[in-house]
Amino acid sequence: MQLWADADRGGRFHTTARWWSAPFAELELEVPLAGDILEVGCGHGVLATYLAITSRARRVLGIDIDAAKITLAREAIGGLRPDEADLRFEVQPAGVVPTIDGGWRSIVIADVLYLLGRERRDALLAACVDALAPGGLLVIKEVDTTPRVKARIAQLQELISTRVLRITDGHVLEFASSDELVATLIDLGMSTMAKRIDHGYVHPHCVVLGTRPMRSVEAP
Ligand SMILES: C[S@@+](CC[C@H](N)C(=O)[O-])C[C@H]1O[C@@H](n2cnc3c(N)ncnc32)[C@H](O)[C@@H]1O
Repeated sequence: MQLWADADRGGRFHTTARWWSAPFAELELEVPLAGDILEVGCGHGVLATYLAITSRARRVLGIDIDAAKITLAREAIGGLRPDEADLRFEVQPAGVVPTIDGGWRSIVIADVLYLLGRERRDALLAACVDALAPGGLLVIKEVDTTPRVKARIAQLQELISTRVLRITDGHVLEFASSDELVATLIDLGMSTMAKRIDHGYVHPHCVVLGTRPMRSVEAP
């Protein structure tokens, strides 16, 4: 959090709120410790930075559609020593998933899909699967739609963030259940599982993991 200490009041509030309300430490355990890692919709860069500083063997790129957030993320990591993290941030248009030779070892998407609506969500997930290396891991963190009370609290907070405070870009608010996300990843040919990571949290945080097959299965 010290990295964002010089940000404006909104930036400090948002990054502190993200750190305390989202289970980033639990999420980090799901991400491979080494290799090229992409975070799509990285916002102010808190999670991407945490992934990079917890393992120097991760080469992390965070992308977002919001140029102001990427500027803030870049300023924040200016406070790191060069040997502390392999980390950079880029602005990318909505729906664009950068590709690299050999594919990404892992792509992480945390609390972005609910802003997209069904069609754009499915298109983004398909682009992520295509951009992964064979055997690469897609790590999706969202708030689940159950239990209902926790889900309502999360949905109300997001309504305030997008419509009242306008600190998050989002025209649609469409929360997919972990079961729906698992079904989408299965349709995209991935082996997948979901689990809750909300113990001790007000929001029903869940993580959905999908592994791209090592090689595509040919029809006989
Ligand atoms: C709730 S914030 C989450 C930020 C970060 N992942 C985190 O967990 O702190 C959602 C972010 O998704 C970004 N976003 C929305 N639609 C996007 C899209 N199509 N592609 C990339 N980022 C997007 C927003 O600009 C915002 O920064």
